[in-house]
Amino acid sequence: MRIAVIGTGYVGLTTGTCLAEMGHQVTCIDNDPEKLAKLRRNVSPIFEPGLQELITRNAGAGRLSFDDRIGPAVKDSEVIFICVNTPRKSDGHADLRYVEGVARQIAEHLCGEYKVIVDKCTVPVRTAEKVRQTILRYGADETRFDVVSNPEFLKEGTAVQDTMAPDRIVIGADTAPARLKMMEVYRPLVEKTGAPVKMVSVRSAELIKHGANTFLAAKISFANLIAHACEEAGADALEVLEAIGLDERIGGHFLCPGIGFGGSCFPKDIAAFGKTLETLGIDGMFVEAIEKINKQAIERFLRKIEKELWILDGKAIGVLGLAFKPCTDDIRNAPALKVIDRLKAEGAVISAYDPEAMENTRKAVPEIVYCADAYQVAAGAEALVVCTDWEEFKHLDLARVKNLMRTPIVFDGRNVFNPEEMRGLGFKYFGVGR
Ligand code: UGA
Repeated sequence: MRIAVIGTGYVGLTTGTCLAEMGHQVTCIDNDPEKLAKLRRNVSPIFEPGLQELITRNAGAGRLSFDDRIGPAVKDSEVIFICVNTPRKSDGHADLRYVEGVARQIAEHLCGEYKVIVDKCTVPVRTAEKVRQTILRYGADETRFDVVSNPEFLKEGTAVQDTMAPDRIVIGADTAPARLKMMEVYRPLVEKTGAPVKMVSVRSAELIKHGANTFLAAKISFANLIAHACEEAGADALEVLEAIGLDERIGGHFLCPGIGFGGSCFPKDIAAFGKTLETLGIDGMFVEAIEKINKQAIERFLRKIEKELWILDGKAIGVLGLAFKPCTDDIRNAPALKVIDRLKAEGAVISAYDPEAMENTRKAVPEIVYCADAYQVAAGAEALVVCTDWEEFKHLDLARVKNLMRTPIVFDGRNVFNPEEMRGLGFKYFGVGR
């Protein structure tokens, strides 16, 4: 099939590349000249495991191309995916101006055969209706198109894997031709992986996405709530949560306490869902509680550091991990940045290391020292603060780390290390909920 994908962020670029891998003829559109220049050289502008190989292979095979013009791609395609960003407005609502802008441009070029416009980005319920109205308002004929919701469930760091072997494919389509077209898009993937397809209404699909992210964020905030209770009561949160998670109705995944969730999705989507509830006349207290506990998680951690180190002014503090989670170079809403901000404000001298996110962080926070590895961070440090649970931190030579530090104190915001082992090695160790 001929497919256009508008927007080449994490969702758009992964979706477009994976659709090409499924055998479709894909044009990815972006209006950012810097990004496009890289993509035209078949270089991925983001770090995402496996993505570069797929771009090279599919662009090489002539199935994947990049352009900045929406017009020709819309004219030539049977299916058009909207994958632009839906950032958070200051009041928490999702900012849909890019979605609307793209809808208007699509309307101008919608001609010829019947086409399906797919909302892939995370949007509040009833956005597809607005997209449809916009396309009609700007001149398209209503028999020529349908608007479908096909939410994406990919996680940064495993985006390719999540797309090529999904838990489920959700298609929200209200007409038979739209359902057929979408089945055609995903047929190669369904045949290969047996992934279940949930064919639902457009509005249900939109709510599935916000509902799923809210539930996942709720699990994290629940884990943090239990961790905070364990800290006060003198219990071990990992023991408690493991046992709770063994009930298969609950499940053990996504129950890791720490310094809270960050990233480009949860904070924005949870806030937007809260606003959607408000619009629907429903009390948003569930969502507010998730957000409140997430803020408390980082506050409690910072208080622990301040209580132990007392005066931070002039203290050498090493930060391990900058990305909002492992296997990505993304620092959007990264808890590490909040920790650094606060330590800096108190006058601490900060050195930091992250396996992938140093380049991005250096642009945002140029005034701290960036090190070549964790050992360099440890050298002379009066405390280490772990903000991201990178696998490589789990394999550090901890005896060496201890010998390099001036005072061996570790604040482990992701429970990467074993408290007994750390104490046995002579560290003063603080985990979360342990
Ligand atoms: C999230 C969802 O997991 C995806 O299913 C969804 O498709 C995506 O948002 C989206 O809407 O686009 P992502 O933002 O890549 O994916 O990150 P997650 O892996 O969900 O992690 C989010 C944050 O939660 C990270 O800061 C992570 O460290 C934290 N986390 C995760 C915890 O603190 N505890 C956990 O048990 C799990």
